[in-house]
Parts: sequence; C-alpha cells; structure tokens
Amino acid sequence: MHLSRRGLLSGSAGVAAVSLAGCSAGEDSVQLSGFTGIAMPATDSDRWVIEGEVMEQLLKDKGYQTVLEYAENNADDQIAQIQSMVDQGAEFLIIGAVDNTSLGQVLLQAKNQGVYIIAYDRLILETPDVDYYASFDNNQVGVLQAEHIIKKLDLENQDGPFNIELFSGSLTDSNSEYFFQGGLDTLERYIYEDKIRILSGQTEQDVTATKDWNGVVAMDRMTELLETYYEDDPLHAVLSPYDGISRGIVAALKEGGYNPGADDFPIVTGQDAEARSVRAIKEGNGQTQTVFKDTRDLADIAVSMVEAIVAGRTPEVNDLGTYENGFKHVPAYLLEPVNVDASNYVEILIDSEYLTAEEIDNAEEDLEF
Ligand code: GAL
Repeated sequence: MHLSRRGLLSGSAGVAAVSLAGCSAGEDSVQLSGFTGIAMPATDSDRWVIEGEVMEQLLKDKGYQTVLEYAENNADDQIAQIQSMVDQGAEFLIIGAVDNTSLGQVLLQAKNQGVYIIAYDRLILETPDVDYYASFDNNQVGVLQAEHIIKKLDLENQDGPFNIELFSGSLTDSNSEYFFQGGLDTLERYIYEDKIRILSGQTEQDVTATKDWNGVVAMDRMTELLETYYEDDPLHAVLSPYDGISRGIVAALKEGGYNPGADDFPIVTGQDAEARSVRAIKEGNGQTQTVFKDTRDLADIAVSMVEAIVAGRTPEVNDLGTYENGFKHVPAYLLEPVNVDASNYVEILIDSEYLTAEEIDNAEEDLEF
C-alpha cells in the first residue's frame, strides 16, 4: 500500500467513522480545553523519549495542559497511569500501549467520561473505545526489511541456498505481527524456490518473538540458534524487526565467531534509525539496514488530531480499512516508513536533521542494546 497526501480521506467518510465510534465532535459538544494525557510504553527505546517530549511541547504551544508518563513496559503500571490521567481530568489520551489487549476496562471508564482516545503507533485491540490510530504503514516496514535481504543476497540472480533466521517483536504489541507478516510474505517466494532456508524451522510469531523488544532476550535466542543449527552451516542473514533487537543479534554473532566488517558477516536488518545502529551501518560494523520512521511527523499527526477535535472538526485520516481491532476498523492516519542503509543515511537522517553527524559518530556501542 502506498499512501500519499492526495489519498487523504476526510469529510463524510471520516465523520461516519467518528460517529460509529460514538463520539461525535459535533456542534453540541462541550467546549474542550485540550488537556491531554500522553501514555508512552518505555524509555528504553530512543524514539518514545523523543516523541513524548515533542508531543508535550507541541500541545503546550497550543496552550493545552499535558501529563506525560512512561510505563517501562509494565502493562499494569500503564493502566494505573491512564486511570490517573483520567482522574486528573484529561480529555484526550494519546497511548503507545505496552499490552494491546489489556486496556479495555480503563478505556471504557475513560470513554464514559467523554475522553477521546488516540492509539499512538501501536493499535489497541479488543475494545470499541479507540477513536483514532496514528501510525506508520507497519506492513511496509517488514517489506522494506525483507527487500534489503533480497537485494544484499542478490536473490534475483543467485540460487543460494542462503540460510536466514527470523526475529519478531513483542507478542503484546500488535505492530509486531504486521512487521513480521510483511517480511515473511516478501521472502516467501524465495523460501518456496529453495533460495532461502531457515534451518531452525522457526517461522511462527510465537517462537520468533522477543519479549519487551529486548536486546538481551534477542541475543540469547541468537546464541542458541547459532549453537543448535549453525555449528557446521553458515548463517547469511537475519530478519530483525527493531534496532535494539538487531544490536543484540549482532552481539551474539560476534560472540559466535562472526567478524563484523568481513564479507561473511550476516546481513542484519532493523528499525527506528537509533544512533547506535546508524553508526554500525555507516561504519560497516554489524547491522546493515534500518527503517526510518519520522516520529516528528507522527507526533505532529497525533497532536493535530487533538487540535481538530478541540476545534470541533473531524481529524484527517487516510486509512479506514486496514486496522481492525477486534471491534471495528479504527480510522487511521498512516505515514510511510523509509529504507535506510549505508548508501542513503546522510540524505535521509542527517539532511533531514533527525540525527546529527556527531550523534551518529559519538553513539555508544554499549552492551545494553
Ligand atoms: C514498536 C514500534 C517500533 C519500535 C518497537 C520497540 O511498536 O513501532 O518503531 O520502537 O516498538 O520500541
């Protein structure tokens, strides 16, 4: 799916979707102050820290009161934080969920008090009480990661067979499934043609999952895969969904005897353009690719949704049919992810001022992933 601003849906389609959600932003609504609670999942991933601060600033600039909380991947803590935001009088919730199915009860209470709920980056499942979804084309993230592997192994021209392993993210984050499916669908043809082999046979989400998107968990699984399946066979590539996981995989590969920089170091994908990973991509020292999602734009979309509702307008969306959450298709605004490798990181990341050259060069190669 390719999205463009020209493809925006607004007006009647958007209004219909909103009234289905049971929360019309119509003339008879009470005057809203814009008080917004921002519930972010964790500080261990660079992006949530940046986005939390950006959203808080944008909302404050509009004169809206804010409260920002991080749940450090603890689903119960996030529920308590959201409850407290509602108790404090928040009229809007922007939520990057820790556990996509655990929020039904607290959101029901919020909705009963007329709170507008925006799922941020991660879809919230199994509740009717989500009004909007602001995210990226998550399936395309996996497609870009798989396409990098296809290109680097030159699968159009080479028969292989090449050995690859698959990693997926947290099972409590609905994005994980979209990334994984996008990647797997793109690689499927080559698996069928026997150009790609997965020696572990681990191709399902539950066995490839990485709890809390944690690099140490990924490192442990990669070590086990190497010891069990790659004593005698080489590993050529790893489909990894997120930079923190990728750095854990690279650490295991190094410990397993692969030499970063050497031609036989496996191709490793990633996501989020975290400075430490971009440094490795630049220096040819481990991970070879990441997916850039301009989170400044995402923060802006979520804040614009709040602003539109405060002004009595219907927020702009560009997707009404992709994100089914078990109750309904949640009206969404999706941004496009961008492939980043050594050939374009300067243009995509530095020229756009997402990262400075210094931030990349000074990024720590620590072991906390
Ligand atoms: C996902 C998000 C990714 C990555 C990951 C780990 O939900 O879409 O960009 O940040 O969480 O935090």
